[in-house]
Amino acid sequence: MLTKNHNDICAYKGNIIWSSQLGKLQSIEKGYIIVQDNNIKGVFSYLPAQYNNITLKDFGNKLIIPGFVDLHLHAPQFANRGMGMDKELLQWLEKYTFPEEGKFSSLDYAKTIYKELIKEIWKQGITRSVIFSSIHKNSTRLLLDYFIKAGLGAYIGKVAMDRNCPDYLIQPTEVILEETEEIIIAYNNKSNLVKPIITPRFIPTCTPSLLKKLGELAYKYNIPIQSHISENFREIEWVKNLHPEFENYAEIYNHYGCFGQVPTVMAHCIYNTEEEIDLMNKNGVYAAHCPDANYNLANGIMPARKFLDKDVKVGLGTDIGAGHKLSIKDTMVSAIQASKLKWLKSNKTLKWLTIEEAFYLGTKGGGSFFGKVGSFEEGFEFDALIIDDTPLGTTNISLKERLERFIYIGDDRNITHRFVGGKDISKPNF
Ligand code: GUN
Ligand code: FE
Repeated sequence: MLTKNHNDICAYKGNIIWSSQLGKLQSIEKGYIIVQDNNIKGVFSYLPAQYNNITLKDFGNKLIIPGFVDLHLHAPQFANRGMGMDKELLQWLEKYTFPEEGKFSSLDYAKTIYKELIKEIWKQGITRSVIFSSIHKNSTRLLLDYFIKAGLGAYIGKVAMDRNCPDYLIQPTEVILEETEEIIIAYNNKSNLVKPIITPRFIPTCTPSLLKKLGELAYKYNIPIQSHISENFREIEWVKNLHPEFENYAEIYNHYGCFGQVPTVMAHCIYNTEEEIDLMNKNGVYAAHCPDANYNLANGIMPARKFLDKDVKVGLGTDIGAGHKLSIKDTMVSAIQASKLKWLKSNKTLKWLTIEEAFYLGTKGGGSFFGKVGSFEEGFEFDALIIDDTPLGTTNISLKERLERFIYIGDDRNITHRFVGGKDISKPNF
């Protein structure tokens, strides 16, 4: 581990690549990032004279890129990765997902799985995550504690469900509110990097009364919200039948104060109407694009370009266990591939995502949900990965091509260091 004391100022030297804007890729060959405390002071092609005497860590020919951000995943589905992909969403929840999540009533089981999960998140260079836990208060607290111990960034939410799910996952509305508030009070100011998030699972499993009260709780404590929206035809039909009084899916969340009244992430967004997309833009609601999960559950393809054209904030989600792999780098590739199918399906009207755009979505796109995260601009928190891509081939190619190749064919073995909030994070030693 590189030691860096509080108030330390340090220069990191290497081939620096980042994206501060959708579609734009910036790079400096053999450049310097100056970091003081947690934050970036500046990025330079030379070492400015005033920094001549500071600690310099030279990464040679390696790449320095922002840490990856996973805007949507389910911690208690970690053990189900890569299994049970023979069902659509609602049957998949019933047959595989709910029974697995039920196991997290056992703290011992949670300990085993959550330790493995956090090691994998670290390994994959995911420096910030937005996470659904299960309905269980103690397992959720454990997960928050493990993240704090590991030094990785996360929003973590205890899942709220008070209807339409198995007995062992249903809780009375009042109990959900009490337990959610208890976690907020205990954790909201405990760590700068790890915080609670309010988590109604989706409309079918949340009564209007629960949604309303969760919305009020979020507003009272200024806690963000995450949920799912418009992922699957049958889910959307079900929501229409449950709530014929509303114009569309988004209006239900919006009516109950769960759609941008506090910072909000909605996962999937495959079948949103133009009106819903406009509302997401107006309310600043984030879309978590989860292409692997969308393929695996035969949900469909999110028209990411439509959201970007309407200036909706978009990030990437692995959505494990519907997604099979906890890798944001691989999710970038899937997002590009999905967008090419969408381009074909749209008679070539919806332009596909470029590598620069996918890289932005998996770094600053999702990172902005955490504040100044996901880029190497002045004042941003220093979340970074050091990439040794020599095993991928040593032909003389540009920095952009090296980044693209790492994203397409590299893996965690190419990541030699992971920095979160200015700190070099070693493998969690649980
Ligand atoms: N919708 C409601 N719950 C879930 C879940 O766990 N995974 C996915 N992909 N969609 C959901
Ligand atoms: Fe999900």
